[in-house]
Amino acid sequence: MTQKLLITNAAQLITMAGHNDQPAKQEAMSQLEIIENGSVYVEDGKVVAIAPDKELRQNYQDLLGTEAHIDATGKVVTPGLIDPHTHLVHAGTRENEYAMRLKGKSYMEIMQTGGGIHATTRATQAAGHKQLFEESRKRLDQFLLHGVTTVEAKSGYGLALEHELKQLEVAKQLDEDHPIDVVSTFMGAHAVPMDEKDNPEPFVDRVINEMIPEVARRKLAVFNDVFCERGVFTPEQSKRILEAGNKHGLIPKIHADEIEPYGGAELAAQVGAISADHLLKASDQGIKDMAEKDVVGVLLPGTAFFLMAEFADARKMIDGGVAVALSTDANPGSSPTISLPFIMNLGCLKMGMTPEEVLTATTINAAHAIGAAGEVGSLEPGKKGDVTIFDVPNYLVLSYQYGMNHVDTVVKAGKPLVV
Ligand code: NIG
Ligand code: FE
Repeated sequence: MTQKLLITNAAQLITMAGHNDQPAKQEAMSQLEIIENGSVYVEDGKVVAIAPDKELRQNYQDLLGTEAHIDATGKVVTPGLIDPHTHLVHAGTRENEYAMRLKGKSYMEIMQTGGGIHATTRATQAAGHKQLFEESRKRLDQFLLHGVTTVEAKSGYGLALEHELKQLEVAKQLDEDHPIDVVSTFMGAHAVPMDEKDNPEPFVDRVINEMIPEVARRKLAVFNDVFCERGVFTPEQSKRILEAGNKHGLIPKIHADEIEPYGGAELAAQVGAISADHLLKASDQGIKDMAEKDVVGVLLPGTAFFLMAEFADARKMIDGGVAVALSTDANPGSSPTISLPFIMNLGCLKMGMTPEEVLTATTINAAHAIGAAGEVGSLEPGKKGDVTIFDVPNYLVLSYQYGMNHVDTVVKAGKPLVV
C-alpha cells in the first residue's frame, strides 16, 4: 500500500533547497528559502511535492482530516535536523571528571593520567553488544525527541580491533533497528592506549595495517577519523592513518586544532577530508586551505561550552568561505548532550552566527559533512521525507528561547514518530 503523508499550512516552511551539489557558503548560509503557509506531500518515504498550501491542498483533498494529514498551522517546518559528529556508541558516564574539572583540572591532564577517553574505553571494552546497544539506543531516542533524524556515529572507545568492531556493529544495528539513520565513522585513532603511550608507533601501525583493512572489508564505516592533537596523534601520524583509510575507501575526517593550533585544518585540506571538526584554534592559513579545498568546518560549541574554553571563530570561517556545519559532539567527556537545538543557541550566542546560518549548519551543510546531501538535509522532491515540525510561530524563536524543546512532531521517511 502506498504510504502517504500531507503536512499543511506551516507558518514557515523552510526548505533549504538549492544546495545539493555544494554546501551553502558565505551569504548563501543566510539566505533561507521560506514558503509562508507552506505544505509538503510525502509518498513512500520520499518528498513528492512542496508548495504554498493553497496549491497543494487542492491536489490532495482526499487526505485532509485523515490519519495521513498533519495540520502545521502556526508552526515551523524544517528538514529533519542532522548531527554530523557524535560519539554515540559508548558505555558509562564521566560526571566524576566533570567535578574534577570544576575544581581546576584540565581535560588533557585527566586524559593523560588514564581518565578521559581511556576511562570510557575501559567501560566500553567491558560492555557487551547488548549493553552498548541499549545505552546508545536511549541516546538516539533523545536525539529524535529533539528533532534529529540522521546522526553520524564514531567508534574510538575500543582502541583494539575486537572492540572497535563491536562499537561499529552496534552502530550498524542501531541504523537498522532505530528510525534515526546512523552513518558510521571508524575512529580507531581516538587515543593511544594507556600502556603504549610512551611508544605509540606500534598502535599507529595496528590502526593502519589491522583495523582499517578489516573495518573496510566488513563495510562497517564510511569515514575514517583521527584525533590530531599534541599528546594524542601528531599531524604526521594522522596523515598516514587518513591516507591508509583513503586507500581502503574510507573518507577522511579529522578532529582538528581543538586544544591548540596543530596544523589539523591544513592537514584536512591536504588529504582531501570531507570535514575538519572542532577548529577552536585553527590557524588563518588552515581556514584558507579549508575554504579552497571545500572542507566542511564542523563546529562543536557544546564542547567549548562544557570545557569552558574559547569558542571557534565561526564568523571568520564563514566570512572566509568555509562551509560551516554544527554538531553536538555528543560524548561522555567533553560534550554530554544530545540537544542539537541548544547547539544552535550556542552558535548564535557564542560564535556570532545568525539564526539563518545555524539552521543551514544543522540541515543541508550537516548533510554535506557526512556525504548525505543527495538524500537528506533539504525538503525537495526526491529527497527523504525527514521533517521536523517545531511549535514556534517563526524560526527566530528557535535560537531565541534556549534550553527548551520546541519539537512538536518528527517525521522520518514519511512516518510521523514524535507527536
Ligand atoms: O570530540 N576530542 C576528542 N574526542 C572527543 C571527546 C571524547 C571523550 O572525551 O570521551 C571530542 O571532544
Ligand atoms: Fe568528537
